[in-house]
Amino acid sequence: MKLERYSSREDLYARAVDIITNAKNNGATTFGLATGGTMEPLYSKICESEVDFSNCVSFNLDEYVGLSAKHDQSYAFYMDKHLFRHKPFKESYLPNGLADNPTEEAARYESLLQQHSLDFQLLGIGQNGHIGFNEPGTPFDSLTHLITLEQSTRHANARFFDSIDEVPTQAITMGIQSIMRAKCILLIAVGDAKRDVLKHVLASDYTEDVPASVLTKHPNVVILTDLQE
Ligand code: PGA
Repeated sequence: MKLERYSSREDLYARAVDIITNAKNNGATTFGLATGGTMEPLYSKICESEVDFSNCVSFNLDEYVGLSAKHDQSYAFYMDKHLFRHKPFKESYLPNGLADNPTEEAARYESLLQQHSLDFQLLGIGQNGHIGFNEPGTPFDSLTHLITLEQSTRHANARFFDSIDEVPTQAITMGIQSIMRAKCILLIAVGDAKRDVLKHVLASDYTEDVPASVLTKHPNVVILTDLQE
């Protein structure tokens, strides 16, 4: 894993845009995308840039179960608002949060993913080490699946909702194996809340208790952070 520390978030996000643009210029056409507060400044910078995704395909990591694409806290809504309406892709996929059978929806999404290999995967990280919504204890060989969110994850995301009770309890997430198939991975960890978990990941404790620690076994990972030791 290659770690780059930035004292300026401006520089960090500019570097992230460069990495994504370079990947695209070097032939990447299938991008795995992420949501969350960490990605908002990135998407804003991408929208200001010249990069053109109109011949590319995107797959989002996850979606809440029970929220429609029109709900303002669904990840479909988030992606449209922050990226797709400004920088459209040829095709963009997210799991359907309203599917009657979320387990079948997860299998459908996994099979779509397997038809398009991911050239690039963007990741945030949860304070509990989750990537996508793969909570601690998720097997490293997991494929896209239905997951029950940890209370700590619901608390962390409650800031985006009117109250914690409105935060969905389940999500459909790409699995850890699905993420690890990507040829190249960019993880962004910003803010003090991510300090402890980033230390764990960097200490190479390869354990399903810290899902992001799986990345220590991936051949092409860059981590950008504003945390100084
Ligand atoms: P955040 O979420 O960017 O809102 O901190 C990251 C994550 O939970 O993966």
